[in-house]
Amino acid sequence: MSPASFESLFIAPDASLHDALARLDANAQGILLVAGHDRRLARTVTDGDLRRAALGGIPASTSLEALPAKAPLTAGLHTTLAEVLAAMDDARIDHMPIVDAAGRAVDLITRRELSQRVYLSSPHLGDDEATLVQEAFSSNWIAPLGPHVDAFERELAARVGVAHAAATSSGTAALHLGLRLLGVGPGDIVLCSSLTFVASANPIRQLGATPLFVDSEPAGWNMSAQALQRALDTLQADGLRAKAAVVVNLYGQSAEMDALLPLLEAAGVPVLEDAAESLGATYRGRPSGSFGHLAVFSFNGNKIITTSGGGMLVGNDADLIQHARRLSTQAREPARHYEHVEDGYNYRLSNVLAGIGRGQLRVLDQRVERRREVFSHYRQALADHPEVRWMAEPPGHVSTRWLSAFRLEHAHPSRARDMLLDFLERHNVEARPVWKPMHLQPLYAGARYIEHAPGQDVSRALFEGGICLPSGSNLEPAQLARVTTLLRRGLDLVRGGA
Ligand SMILES: Cc1ncc(COP(=O)(O)O)c(C=O)c1O
Repeated sequence: MSPASFESLFIAPDASLHDALARLDANAQGILLVAGHDRRLARTVTDGDLRRAALGGIPASTSLEALPAKAPLTAGLHTTLAEVLAAMDDARIDHMPIVDAAGRAVDLITRRELSQRVYLSSPHLGDDEATLVQEAFSSNWIAPLGPHVDAFERELAARVGVAHAAATSSGTAALHLGLRLLGVGPGDIVLCSSLTFVASANPIRQLGATPLFVDSEPAGWNMSAQALQRALDTLQADGLRAKAAVVVNLYGQSAEMDALLPLLEAAGVPVLEDAAESLGATYRGRPSGSFGHLAVFSFNGNKIITTSGGGMLVGNDADLIQHARRLSTQAREPARHYEHVEDGYNYRLSNVLAGIGRGQLRVLDQRVERRREVFSHYRQALADHPEVRWMAEPPGHVSTRWLSAFRLEHAHPSRARDMLLDFLERHNVEARPVWKPMHLQPLYAGARYIEHAPGQDVSRALFEGGICLPSGSNLEPAQLARVTTLLRRGLDLVRGGA
């Protein structure tokens, strides 16, 4: 329903039955909202109401006010989609007007929307995956390890411009291995971007080390060099040195490596690049994931390419990556019997899933192109909404726009964010808040955190007003148009009411 057609749902109480019929015919929604200028909902009128009036012999020139009174069934702005659905089922109706606290009609939910959920980022298979998986079946390489695993590692390494890669069962497993290979252990301090998914930080804690969280910079949202410098200075003043740094590339975009890496190098801190969200992006012409001593990718179901679950640890040090492969297969020593010296894991990717990964890698460029198109569409469609502040793509960056993300500029950002998210959810559209920073997580209560500038907590502000929109490369043009239309209406609602 376009913004214009939402307006066309309204009809004045003194309009005639004939006018109502003509309007219903024109907007094809099957319902009208009867309200005066103040938009307070007096009642609804459906095709059925008009048919019954005609059968009852009420002349078409009669005004709507003369119809038998019918209190409208409505829901409030905080009603969830499930509650709306349940109420529609109970009353056996197909539409539910949403009213604000003043009783004004501000939205209409239709049953038709319920079968058309739009997802944030869903898997998008290409033409080759099924054939490659079939190859694994035909050759009986169903066990973990096998030719697809080796080929997937080679092909991904080549794509990212690194020498070696080890395929793992998840990005989290690759992070865990990466930190361990950089020597992180009990008592160590590890620098880590605060604005990220919890998987970037958990392996630090699980290895017995302590994270020191670093804020974001306001434009590109990734780790702030200013904050990093102060974090390194603070550690130095205390006579400490970080064992490693987890630098995250957020929402399809590399961190500002030219600013961050020299600081870390000067302090002697190796980098584990968390490129789980940035496969396909480049920074100053170089692929994201080629900057750290080690880097990690994820092929989780919501990522730009997926193996349904999987990850990769990459780097130029052959020994480290070979060690990762050994640790990920229970650290078995090369002996006929089962001999173990090191503590290992069951972290290897299976040959079947690697087959999917190889097929997905072939369509990566198309996926990047389409996600960027989705972002451009949103940006153009909302260009007249200055309160929408998109995550910037600074010079030198090519983002994949894995997720199209913006911050709402508003006096009460989290209230406005939640109002917009509730609105989209009621219309069966999946959007999400930006990651809740690690320094605000109860899990990391008490962890040290260095802000972008004293008194300026950028990642908190990005969380409070931040929203990620449906961004899948398989979004149909009609779905994208529907989301954009809803966004425009939702933003108007927020402007008027939050
Ligand atoms: C930034 C970041 N790091 C790590 C991960 C973990 O990857 P996985 O889900 O494959 O374990 C994810 C996503 O899931 C992520 O977004």
